[in-house]
Amino acid sequence: MKLEKMTDFFTARAEEYDEHMLCEVPGCRAGYIEMAKRLPEGISRLLDLGCGTGLELEPIFARFPGLCVTGIDLTQEMLRRLADKFSEKNLRLICGDYLKCELGGDYDAAVSFQTMHHFTYEEKAGLYRRIYDAVRPGGIYIECDYMVTDPKEEAFYFAENSRLRAEAGAKMDEYYHYDTPLTVQHQMQLLKEAGFIETEQVFREGNTTMLVCRKAVSAEEKERNFRQDDRTVL
Ligand SMILES: C[S@@+](CC[C@H](N)C(=O)[O-])C[C@H]1O[C@@H](n2cnc3c(N)ncnc32)[C@H](O)[C@@H]1O
Repeated sequence: MKLEKMTDFFTARAEEYDEHMLCEVPGCRAGYIEMAKRLPEGISRLLDLGCGTGLELEPIFARFPGLCVTGIDLTQEMLRRLADKFSEKNLRLICGDYLKCELGGDYDAAVSFQTMHHFTYEEKAGLYRRIYDAVRPGGIYIECDYMVTDPKEEAFYFAENSRLRAEAGAKMDEYYHYDTPLTVQHQMQLLKEAGFIETEQVFREGNTTMLVCRKAVSAEEKERNFRQDDRTVL
């Protein structure tokens, strides 16, 4: 298998991208619709990380036509297609790396769809803390992504990633397109460690899994929630 740089991978496939996701990846077509349904009534500001060509935004805009969306993506060609589709919408598009760029703040909700399965625990832990800071108290984060259930499978993909990079002489800190999904349980743990509460799995088709979590409205609610979680473990 030949490793490709992340932006080269998506630029080369941008033209057939929508059809591939909608027709060939189990869970995507239904997941895009489900994500829009899970957003709470009355939202006005949304952050979309790794928005690509905007497939998740189609049902979201159908439900919230006046929504103000900040979309961040590394690949210019994917963003160009998104901008063409939604030229009438209230969009702020950033061509950049969501692991490093300014995310903005005070969002009612943040979403990501099939973009987080390329990163390490450490990269995700830092990003989830920044998403947590970017969402207003009471706001939510919805992630729909490739997740596995068996820790052995997770370990296999990370080992393969290291092996392929070593073989290709690729640096570990550069972005290549290779899938390293976490288990659902590890994903939930990372979101909890970032500060989110009430993380719930609401959808799974194939390996496409959707988690919804919330930022507490106050420090007291967060504290109360974590104490309840501890009681559950005991
Ligand atoms: C599989 S596509 C998903 C696009 C869209 N969310 C969807 O479901 O159709 C993954 C997208 O994430 C983007 N991406 C990957 N790593 C990124 C990063 N670190 N910062 C911003 N975008 C990134 C890619 O450029 C690509 O457009």
